[in-house]
Amino acid sequence: MMYTVVLVIILVLVAVIVLPPQLTFIYWYWKGVDTVSPLSLLGYLAKIVFKKEPLFISLQHFYNTMKKNGKKFGGYYFLMRPSFVPTDLDLIKKILISDFDHFTDHIGHLNAENDPLSLNTFNLKGSRWQGIRSKLLFSFTSAKNKTMFETAIKYGEDFKQLMKKYVDSNESLYIKEVSEQYTTDTIVSYGFGIESNALQSGNSEFIKLLSEVVVSFRTMLVMFFPELFSLFRMRTYGNNVTNLFIDLVEGTAKYRKQNDIIREDFIHHLLQNSSKHTITNSEMKEVKSRKDIGLSLNEMVGQCFAFYSAGYETSAAAISFTLIELALNQEIQNKLREEIKIILENHNGRLHTTQLRRWST
Ligand code: HEM
Repeated sequence: MMYTVVLVIILVLVAVIVLPPQLTFIYWYWKGVDTVSPLSLLGYLAKIVFKKEPLFISLQHFYNTMKKNGKKFGGYYFLMRPSFVPTDLDLIKKILISDFDHFTDHIGHLNAENDPLSLNTFNLKGSRWQGIRSKLLFSFTSAKNKTMFETAIKYGEDFKQLMKKYVDSNESLYIKEVSEQYTTDTIVSYGFGIESNALQSGNSEFIKLLSEVVVSFRTMLVMFFPELFSLFRMRTYGNNVTNLFIDLVEGTAKYRKQNDIIREDFIHHLLQNSSKHTITNSEMKEVKSRKDIGLSLNEMVGQCFAFYSAGYETSAAAISFTLIELALNQEIQNKLREEIKIILENHNGRLHTTQLRRWST
């Protein structure tokens, strides 16, 4: 308890130093916006620091409270950063659609020269985000999704075989781990043209390195104080993770050029949009549109990192929960199996993305 109090006091002090204009925890009172009491906020911070409650569950509680009290929006503190939380559907639509041009910034730490992994679309701001995001659009066309789907089907066979092995030997398995191996094999193959063999070997360098860092003290620190990382030119992740993605882009570019290889994947698309120009931190802050400027090496590294990290855990979590629910609901599982059988019978034993679209309705 003593440690909690000391840590919370230190965090509050640092926050006041780092964010003087927004004087932590009184910002929303100043603005006259409904918020939560500073006392609950200290408890909330302690819970997050000591991993008693996930950050987004706390945000969900806040949203539900505001909605229940009939408020159209509320003032929340994302860790210590004042954050506006709309609850009214029309207001949300305005922010996401009609007024979107005013809301292009993300809050993460950015360093164009020293921290390539920070340069991903989850952190970028303004015109720089728009320019890079518009280049990525071509990686998510329906033709590209179809190729990704076929890759998912291919590794689905390995997934199936592994599950069968567990069933036959009556062994229990940690489904999240196996799902992560499956999504890693799929994303790394489709995105970068690399066979990671995570399912077959039960491991992967990508999973090993990322699982070490995803919930580390360092990543917590960067969420609390992105400004400190920018100020001291610190990297979001350790050199081993950063170098893995730098080597991935540099190595692939060199290998494909030397061997004249064209493979229509995510990294190929980035390489096609690349430029020899290295972006500096001051250029990054320029307001002018970056739509016509090619991607720097560091920007490509940032997008590859985001592509993998955005895809592997999210999809693995969705697969794990689906499988657990199906295991617990035999009737629904039987119904789904019958539906799949009918689709396979009608389409020569193959699944296509078009069937999936019909399925979701
Ligand atoms: C069930 C699985 C998934 C969920 C729930 C999910 C969820 C999300 C959400 C909520 C965002 C928006 C984040 C933000 O703007 O702050 C996002 C963005 C993104 N996701 Fe996913 N995602 C999933 C699967 C994937 C996969 C498989 C990939 C790629 C292999 C992927 C790549 C991306 C990328 C690149 C972005 C950033 C796009 C941008 O900046 O506009 N995601 N995802």
